[in-house]
Amino acid sequence: MITKEETGKYLQQNKQRFLDELFELLRIPSVSADPKFKADVKKAAEFMKAKFEEAGAENVEVCETKGHPIVYADKIIDPNLPTVLVYGHYDVQPADPYELWESEPFNPVIKNDKIVARGSADDKGQMYIHVKAFEMMMKNGGVPCNIKFMIEGEEEVGSENLEVFIKENKEKLKADVIVISDTSMIANDHPSMAVSLKGLSYLEVEVTGPNRDLHSGVYGGAVANPINVLCRMIASLQDENKRVTIPGFYDKVLELTAEERAKMNEAPFDLGDFKKDLNIEDVEGEESYNTLERMGIRPTLDVNGIWGGYTGEGAKTVLPSKANAKISMRLVPDQNHYEISELFQKHFESIAPKSVKVKVKPHHGGMPYVTPTDTDSYKAAEKAFEKVWGKMPIPTREGGSIPIVSLFKDILGLDSILMGFGLNSDAIHSPNESFGVENYLKGIETVALFHQYFSELDRK
Ligand code: BES
Ligand code: MN
Ligand code: MN
Repeated sequence: MITKEETGKYLQQNKQRFLDELFELLRIPSVSADPKFKADVKKAAEFMKAKFEEAGAENVEVCETKGHPIVYADKIIDPNLPTVLVYGHYDVQPADPYELWESEPFNPVIKNDKIVARGSADDKGQMYIHVKAFEMMMKNGGVPCNIKFMIEGEEEVGSENLEVFIKENKEKLKADVIVISDTSMIANDHPSMAVSLKGLSYLEVEVTGPNRDLHSGVYGGAVANPINVLCRMIASLQDENKRVTIPGFYDKVLELTAEERAKMNEAPFDLGDFKKDLNIEDVEGEESYNTLERMGIRPTLDVNGIWGGYTGEGAKTVLPSKANAKISMRLVPDQNHYEISELFQKHFESIAPKSVKVKVKPHHGGMPYVTPTDTDSYKAAEKAFEKVWGKMPIPTREGGSIPIVSLFKDILGLDSILMGFGLNSDAIHSPNESFGVENYLKGIETVALFHQYFSELDRK
């Protein structure tokens, strides 16, 4: 049995080493999207394997897939005890644009009590919390329940091979609950736990006009310019109330009750601070919903990238042949990403003028997910947060997506507890990503205590 006193003491004694080890992991540029970093992704998997072994885990394996490997480890102490399956990812987003980093993305430094490096919060720092919490339990009387770890290297590119892996390894992955630290909390003095994740539908579109680039003076105004057309088409996807205009888009959206909305708005949120942090004069979004609601419970549509024509130095007068964009839609229960992608495709093709041809190519997607809160595991997590952070965590709704989580439910029948320790100000996916030293260290304590409370609750 591990207590708060023991976790606190062990942390003080091992703090520097815990940081050093994370720094070593952060120095490995395990960018899953870019083939250039394939060997580094592998190196990060091998690093994880070594650390699980050092911490006393068994059956430690680097499982090869068609893409990047999955690291598995476990410690089974008694088949009659409950089992926690920990999921996380050791891959990271590309560090571009490099020039906006104040320090090297893969050379971690501590600045203002935060660890600055690509992957510090998403998800290496948060994932490594679980490895060190495991070590802490092992060194303080052993783990109180069975633990399995599944750490993947393809979360940032859609987890395709993890889906295959979980389908093929249902027995090996048998557990009572999944625990994930890959979301954020409101603030260090306002602990919170995410209870929902958005789904995702991601598509790429291409608009083609004339068969070649043309002189924009000779042909301009007489032939459709694909960039102009694409901009008009994209602009029409939202109406003046910022509602998505794709027919059927809202059909399956579950509206929250007035009580549920009131409850989620109890979370501390200051619109002034929000605007100040982003240096914007005003926010905008769907009419009749506030900022928290727009981010947490409403489906959205955004252009993630748009290109075409001449973008180099100086001016080149050209009417381009093609224009492209990447478009994401974030989904909420009970929207289905396959259906939404199809609705998008049909609609987008139907609004194209005859003067151009359009192609719509769907990318990866995922279903939305909601964590039930009336479970022993959720209560154990709440209790652990309260013990370490001094307050009961508030349930929140996340705008981000972890597509594999709904598949954990469908394929393994398991719910996921989202014990996130990041902050929105960590700038994940952006230059100068960071993760609070306090968040890292307190996260380790919280996770260790969660296992303790979870095994106590379940035995009753
Ligand atoms: N950890 C994030 C998801 C996240 C971020 C959830 C913040 C809640 C709050 C995850 O690594 C991620 O970036 N997911 C992607 C989806 C994936 C298919 C690329 C996302 O949400 O864009
Ligand atoms: Mn992540
Ligand atoms: Mn991410």
